[in-house]
Amino acid sequence: MGNPNRVKAESGIMRWVDDRFPATQMWQDHLSKYYAPRNFNFWYFFGSLALLVLVNQILTGVWLTMSYNPTGEGAFASVEYIMRDVEYGWLIRYMHSTGASAFFVVIYLHMFRALLYGSYKAPRELVWIFGMAIYLLLMAEAFMGYLLPWGQMSYWGAQVIISLFATIPFIGPDLAQWIRGDFLISGITLNRFFALHVVALPIVILALVVLHIIALHEVGSNNPDGIDIKAKTDETGKPLDGIPFHPYYTVKDIFGVSVFLFVFATVIFYFPEGGGYFIERPNFEPANPMVTPDHIAPVWYFTPFYAILRAITFDIGFLGLQAEFLGVVFMGGAIAVLFVLPWLDRSPVNSMRYKGWMSKSMLALFAISFVILGILGALPATPLRTAVAQLCTVLYFAFFLLMPFYTRLEKTKPVPERVTG
Ligand code: HEM
Repeated sequence: MGNPNRVKAESGIMRWVDDRFPATQMWQDHLSKYYAPRNFNFWYFFGSLALLVLVNQILTGVWLTMSYNPTGEGAFASVEYIMRDVEYGWLIRYMHSTGASAFFVVIYLHMFRALLYGSYKAPRELVWIFGMAIYLLLMAEAFMGYLLPWGQMSYWGAQVIISLFATIPFIGPDLAQWIRGDFLISGITLNRFFALHVVALPIVILALVVLHIIALHEVGSNNPDGIDIKAKTDETGKPLDGIPFHPYYTVKDIFGVSVFLFVFATVIFYFPEGGGYFIERPNFEPANPMVTPDHIAPVWYFTPFYAILRAITFDIGFLGLQAEFLGVVFMGGAIAVLFVLPWLDRSPVNSMRYKGWMSKSMLALFAISFVILGILGALPATPLRTAVAQLCTVLYFAFFLLMPFYTRLEKTKPVPERVTG
């Protein structure tokens, strides 16, 4: 029965299953005989943590949905009901809202690891592209989720973002109306965002995570030295610098999960609103289309891109391009350029450990600019802040657009044959 070439259990219930489903084969391929480099460090915790947070979001999301009411009339009150009357509703809601911020903390660190060790480079381009697709959808998922409590910031944040689509020449205003499903943001918009947030996007994100991991296991994990561990194998074909993922990295990941849960629980129990950054203050007031909050800022994980949007203050008159639309183009470009990263890096080495001083300085400048943009995006604009945001926007794009040059020009260090450490 089944495919005779597959690895199967000798006897018993597992044999019965293996004859019908490749369970033992999959266990070996992805865990007990998946050889991962033996030099994984701190930066390699965040893939498994992203999986953990994803599961947290799905489980708490399902429970929230049981008591949430996706209508303009009932949404705000139903969230208050969850917070006050549903047993442990406050905990489930905070696990979900703080979980959204945790997701982005984990994902940004996970992405930064890829920049440090060149994990996006051949043959891992598809791992990276699937990752970027996840990141894009995660942003859409978080944006739509933020409308659901139907607070002031939910309403006005969505208003700002949807109006960005209206700046697109010719089709913009119709497109914005199509997204809203109404002339202004209304219960109709809320209802469709709810459908996308709880059903459509999670399904696609989950499918992409599966593709992400299949692609990674096809080519094998990168490592802090950025060298191919499959180049040196013993007589049975096992990489000399590889260790089975299970039990070695399952145990390491359980340690990472424990530390993460400790920090996560501390935030949930003691700082669930993150000082107004995880849940912004105006969101404790119900949405009111007649009153605009004094200061509208997106949640922290969007602020770097929001700062880039606001940094574009000039029109290109002779092309008929207005600053608002150009801002949208730059903001979109800041994300789009990440997709082509594997083809911008032309260095002969993968890891920052062996790249030259130019790559190192550019990565440092990029990371600093990204953080500064994040801070500026959360603050009201002033002329000085706009000038700083413009400088940081230039540095952000320079990191990517000059990469084909500096990665070729600089002198790299010799790469070891076997992993170090
Ligand atoms: C729900 C979101 C995500 C999940 C659950 C996830 C999961 C994982 C897991 C479990 C690994 C293997 C363990 C590790 O290397 O840390 C991994 C590797 C990787 N991920 Fe993700 N990931 C997600 C999002 C992303 C994003 C947004 C990107 C980048 C745009 C990305 C890029 C990568 C890369 C390049 C690797 C290979 C790293 C290496 O071998 O050095 N991932 N991911």
